[in-house]
Amino acid sequence: MRRVNRLSLEELAPHLLETPDPPRPLVWSDVFGNDRPVEIEVGFGKGLFLLTASEACPDVNFLGIEIVRKYQLFTATRMAKRAQANVRLACADARRFLRDCVSPGSVQAVHVYFPDPWWKKRHLKRRLFTSEFAALCEVVLRPGGVLHLATDVEDYFAMATELVAQNTKLDRLPPPDEKVPAHDFDYLTNFERKFRKEGRPIHRVDYRKPS
Ligand SMILES: C[S@@+](CC[C@H](N)C(=O)[O-])C[C@H]1O[C@@H](n2cnc3c(N)ncnc32)[C@H](O)[C@@H]1O
Repeated sequence: MRRVNRLSLEELAPHLLETPDPPRPLVWSDVFGNDRPVEIEVGFGKGLFLLTASEACPDVNFLGIEIVRKYQLFTATRMAKRAQANVRLACADARRFLRDCVSPGSVQAVHVYFPDPWWKKRHLKRRLFTSEFAALCEVVLRPGGVLHLATDVEDYFAMATELVAQNTKLDRLPPPDEKVPAHDFDYLTNFERKFRKEGRPIHRVDYRKPS
């Protein structure tokens, strides 16, 4: 992984969110120090989406949940260098974190971009998008809130859209447009950049929770 200049844990601390122990629902105004709407990205990797979105929408609070600690620290470093006050980053399994630490109906959007497919039978239990996960997304969204999903894997897309249809009452929206990037950081995420440069089609869908 390309290094971002090292910062101390004290310098990263404003962006790091500990999972409550014992697990319990977080109060967003305590986490962010304000009552602005909250959006969650699951599996943020190197954090390009959080960086772009949090700069573009300073009146929105962003929580990233990432299972790999080195990505949490890498992205926290990027946020700390820009003093990006509206981003917090948890290192956790998002399936448990959404279930235990996010209050029902408290989130404006959930973003899931390029989840690992984990096709092999022995890896199935690592797969993020399951019927439980689809149902959890619906539970944490507030009425009118939106679930965003993008993947390069057609079969994963088919599986995920089927799970949402079967397990939730979320309304499927028209697919979002694919914009032409103006520069090398003008992509949704790092994986989007990689796959689009390889010429792979990207499958996208948005869902809205009925009001
Ligand atoms: C293929 S990468 C995509 C990263 C980023 N979304 C992007 O598009 O560039 C998938 C990411 O999801 C993370 N991840 C996988 N399972 C997860 C889970 N259960 N909870 C949170 N993050 C998870 C992985 O560590 C990895 O960073």
